Amino acid sequence: MGLLLCIVAVFLQFSLGFSFPLRFNQTTGHFKILQVADMHYANGATTKCLDVLPAEFATCSDLNTTAFIERLIHAERPDFMVFTGDNIYGFDCNDSTASQVAAFAPAVNAQIPWAAVLGNHDQEGNLNRMELMQHIVSMDYTLAQINPPLASLTLPSEGHHYECGLASSIDGYGNYNLEVGGAQGSPLANKSVLNLYFLDSGDYSTVPGIGGYGWIKPSQQLWFSQTSAQLQAEYKSDPTSDNTSAPGLVYFHIPLPEFIAFSASNMTGGKQEGISSADMNSGFFTTIREAGDVKAVFVGHDHVNDFCGELSGVNLCYGGGFGYHAYGMAGWSRRARVVMATMGKDDNGGWVGVEEIRTWKRLDDDALTTLDEEVLWNPSVTHS
Ligand SMILES: *[C@@H]1O[C@H](CO)[C@@H](O)[C@H](O)[C@H]1NC(C)=O
Ligand SMILES: *[C@@H]1O[C@H](CO)[C@@H](O)[C@H](O)[C@H]1NC(C)=O
Ligand SMILES: *[C@@H]1O[C@H](CO)[C@@H](O)[C@H](O)[C@H]1NC(C)=O
Ligand SMILES: *[C@@H]1O[C@H](CO)[C@@H](O)[C@H](O)[C@H]1NC(C)=O
Ligand SMILES: *[C@@H]1O[C@H](CO)[C@@H](O)[C@H](O)[C@H]1NC(C)=O
Ligand SMILES: *[C@@H]1O[C@H](CO)[C@@H](O)[C@H](O)[C@H]1NC(C)=O
Repeated sequence: MGLLLCIVAVFLQFSLGFSFPLRFNQTTGHFKILQVADMHYANGATTKCLDVLPAEFATCSDLNTTAFIERLIHAERPDFMVFTGDNIYGFDCNDSTASQVAAFAPAVNAQIPWAAVLGNHDQEGNLNRMELMQHIVSMDYTLAQINPPLASLTLPSEGHHYECGLASSIDGYGNYNLEVGGAQGSPLANKSVLNLYFLDSGDYSTVPGIGGYGWIKPSQQLWFSQTSAQLQAEYKSDPTSDNTSAPGLVYFHIPLPEFIAFSASNMTGGKQEGISSADMNSGFFTTIREAGDVKAVFVGHDHVNDFCGELSGVNLCYGGGFGYHAYGMAGWSRRARVVMATMGKDDNGGWVGVEEIRTWKRLDDDALTTLDEEVLWNPSVTHS
């Protein structure tokens, strides 16, 4: 019975593949993503804020995190939202399930498709990482997945045990990709013109003698490489694609060691603390660069870093700390990152592939101030 359900679930996933739950807007040619990093949600009204001004402390709780998301949804009207880990602060949660429900409620209530990955604090409560992802994928409007369906992987043939959706050849929980279809009515309506990849960057090292944070393992990188190659081959098979690939964006929690590459002269935004990556470099930046389709990587984890910098044609970006029950800096507004991709137009005004990806941040001040708007990718300018 379990196996039958498993096969049906995998079949449904594939047969629905062309319905594109995510799609560029036919009128504007835009697709807008709101990234929420490090909510650190706990119990709601009773959970006090960290690092706010003394005068703000008495009236500040997790509910301010909720209010900020709601204001942003109203202001930006995103097509999709991604929560990049430490969504809940498990250590302080009375009930991790209830905390996740409250944390993601604004996306669910606004009926906005959303995805989530885990950080290093989510599992500190009464649910482990697998249970957290199992709960997330059961929620409304989510497009998150636990791990890729077995059939989509080219697997080593021996010595592995697989469960539905939990291929044990992939480390972690929450490795998946989402395809964003071209605008309805355009020649690219049945193609993914923007590819989103989500990975579980783990929590802490489990290797004896190595301390520090987790990292993206070879099994996850293999899945990423294979998925990217497959998506690129499909896109290139379209006569209108001009032998190019659809751009890709990658979301996870813990920054790659390469985030250290920037200084004030070559980044946009702030760097007010160290780069808390894993002690080991597992090579995911190289894997991304080799794949060739990814234009930007978005992480959280370091709440008071909110910069983007470009390294070898790949933008490395922080979301900036969002949650009030998370460390921050008093007087330095909580913030979020928006990414907007735009399809190009041909000479007849018809939509063609993505021609630009922009980003900006929004602050939780009275005006929801927009800052650090920049172009992350424009193929006609960068030729990358
Ligand atoms: C597309 O954008 C237009 C203009 O902003 C908006 O009115 C419409 O609701 C959007 N369509 C969808 C499907 O989101
Ligand atoms: C969580 O537990 C604490 C300590 O027992 C309690 O004071 C608080 O009211 C609880 N919060 C919720 C939302 O249940
Ligand atoms: C938190 O929300 C309360 C209630 O709306 C508000 O009075 C307070 O100013 C907010 N605090 C911060 C730091 O935004
Ligand atoms: C996309 O698929 C739909 C449904 O199969 C079909 O009606 C439509 O013609 C296709 N559009 C393009 C541009 O291939
Ligand atoms: C497409 O690009 C690849 C390299 O990216 C090249 O090897 C191949 O020859 C190109 N194909 C065509 C038809 O231009
Ligand atoms: C950024 O600038 C610093 C200081 O000039 C330099 O050391 C570093 O290599 C640059 N990084 C990149 C990615 O260009």
